[in-house]
Amino acid sequence: MTDTATLDIQPGRLFIGGEWQDAASGSTFDTINPATAEPLTQVAEAGAEDVDRAVRAAREAFESDAWQNLDARKRGKLLYAIADRLEERADELAALETMDNGKPVREARMIDIKESIDCFRYYAGWADKIAGDVIPVPGPYLNYTRREPVGVCGAIIPWNYPLQMAAWKVAPAIACGNTVVLKPAEQTPLTALELARAASDAGLPAGVLNVIPGFGESAGGALVNHPDVDKIAFTGSTAIGKLIQRQAADSLKKVSLELGGKSPNIVLDDADIEAAVRGASMAIFYNSGQACTAGSRLLVHEKIRDEFVEKLLKRAAGFVPGDPMNPKTRLGPLVSEEQLDRVLGYIEKGKQEGAELLLGGDRVEVGGKRGYFLNPTVFGNVTPRMTIACEEIFGPVLAVQTFSDMDEAIQIGNASEYGLAAAVWTRDVRKAHHVAHKLRAGTVWINTYHNLDTASPFGGYKQSGYGRELGRYALDLYTQVKSVWVNLA
Ligand code: NAI
Ligand code: MG
Repeated sequence: MTDTATLDIQPGRLFIGGEWQDAASGSTFDTINPATAEPLTQVAEAGAEDVDRAVRAAREAFESDAWQNLDARKRGKLLYAIADRLEERADELAALETMDNGKPVREARMIDIKESIDCFRYYAGWADKIAGDVIPVPGPYLNYTRREPVGVCGAIIPWNYPLQMAAWKVAPAIACGNTVVLKPAEQTPLTALELARAASDAGLPAGVLNVIPGFGESAGGALVNHPDVDKIAFTGSTAIGKLIQRQAADSLKKVSLELGGKSPNIVLDDADIEAAVRGASMAIFYNSGQACTAGSRLLVHEKIRDEFVEKLLKRAAGFVPGDPMNPKTRLGPLVSEEQLDRVLGYIEKGKQEGAELLLGGDRVEVGGKRGYFLNPTVFGNVTPRMTIACEEIFGPVLAVQTFSDMDEAIQIGNASEYGLAAAVWTRDVRKAHHVAHKLRAGTVWINTYHNLDTASPFGGYKQSGYGRELGRYALDLYTQVKSVWVNLA
């Protein structure tokens, strides 16, 4: 079982104005290893007073001559240096992410940590390429635009990709010249604190990045309601996204939201079945289904349904829950007891509403500990109105539905309040693009699933949120445009 002795995990403190600090209240909370249900360490718990201190540090840093006058290229150099510091410790960070979150260590290393490093390098490159325009206006005037930073950005992130979600927000924010107060999820605060350490080691000026672990309402809420925060970037549940948008209305701070999903994965009858089976299992079981883009609704053409499901169940049974620190493990525990209970509740609901449980559905013990492990779960005979076909489960639970033609597949696929991602499997290039264009989702995969890259935009349609992270699109989230007029007469 996970050997916590291999890593020397120190108690976590708040990182404010370049210094490690205790919470004003002195409160701490435990962060738990989901593979063992045992605490890893204690972390300082930020409250409203700490949030205020962090915001003031970020404001002071933002307005300082040192930051305002720093060449854009030097901001880029700082981001490259942060990437280098993360890379030097990549294996250790992967182990830490696995202990705090429960995800398989191989995936933590090859995806979470690698993508986080890539993200800092990608936006390091952008720092000195964020340019305005010269606009041909009538009369003897020169008109040009500047892309200026928004100011103090509050970042509130979830627990499913802890370091990566931090990178997606912090790297573009700093590239654009903002300062940041980052609140990691209470379940997984540890790698965000290591990001603070990397930033400090890289020479990022004090106050440019502040990291304040804490809970949703007390710390996150204080950040959202703080009058001196200019922008909130949030990833998490749709319910909290709506609350944040409502609360931000009072100060009209800018908001970008990356929320839930119930992504349809559509297999047409001419698909390469072997490839689609592999894709469909990875789509739902990767990260134990705790991905906002999880392919949680599998829509299979009725003609190939039986063959497909038979192969899928064989493949799914290969995702055996195991110690996430073992590099061979592909399915780790869920992040918390709360999440496990929520997912088990959905499984119960699926049975009650008449779906057919084809595989799994039960909690399992791994290594003799009370970790939050769940067997890979597949439901058949799911109809579009069932709860498990509509609500985001965020666990390794797949709902299989059928359709009889392509238009019906599109219709079922779009019959969701969410619109984060979708996929289609077919050998027909015309059908592939037709379906891709008709699906109302921010990402569509054709004959593949879960691809993601720092250079390519990511975000939702409908109630999956708005604003696009990653790529050059993220620069729009972290800049505002100023139009400057010069009289040349
Ligand atoms: P959540 O939305 O409550 O938490 C996400 C982040 O928001 C955390 O940092 C949390 O501390 C913060 N937060 C919570 N309440 C807040 C408030 N009132 N003001 C400001 N910040 C607040 O999500 P939770 O409870 O961890 O998970 C519940 C469900 O949400 C999951 O089962 C899943 O369906 C969905 N979810 C979706 C994610 C995504 O990537 N789209 C990520 C995490 C959860
Ligand atoms: Mg919550």
